[in-house]
Amino acid sequence: MSIHLKLNGTERELEVDPEMPLLWALRDVLGLTGTKYGCGQALCGACVVHLDGEAVRACVTPVSRAEGRHVTTIEGLSADGSHPLQKAWVELAVPQCGFCQSGQIMTAAALLAKKPQPSDSEIDRSMSGNLCRCGTYTRIRCAIKKAAGLPHE
Ligand code: FES
Ligand code: FES
Repeated sequence: MSIHLKLNGTERELEVDPEMPLLWALRDVLGLTGTKYGCGQALCGACVVHLDGEAVRACVTPVSRAEGRHVTTIEGLSADGSHPLQKAWVELAVPQCGFCQSGQIMTAAALLAKKPQPSDSEIDRSMSGNLCRCGTYTRIRCAIKKAAGLPHE
């Protein structure tokens, strides 16, 4: 079946099983490997991308749900790494191994698009489903606040 979507601003057509997880379509069919596979069960947040601006878990989202919609992956967040979150992530050296980080950034980006100046509890609530085995949570929270122009340490 043909699936049409707008991927990072470009029209794409895929010939895939409509039940294929969006994550596999992105990584294996389209070669966008910035989105990671962690658990495959919507438990870790490593695979978060945006579907029409909403953060979704690509490992449990059938590619058919993306039909006619905008999909944004970490590769499409900005053309040149200039998104405020990307800049803050670099300045605060957030990642350790890095595996969870594109999911973290995409979840944070969906939050800031809706709430440009989130409270601490809104940040905590939005980010609570994104696990980091390296424990970079403190730096993630600081970077989100920095990107939002809020005081951070
Ligand atoms: S890989 Fe999708 S939530 Fe863990
Ligand atoms: S930086 Fe290693 S899992 Fe988060």
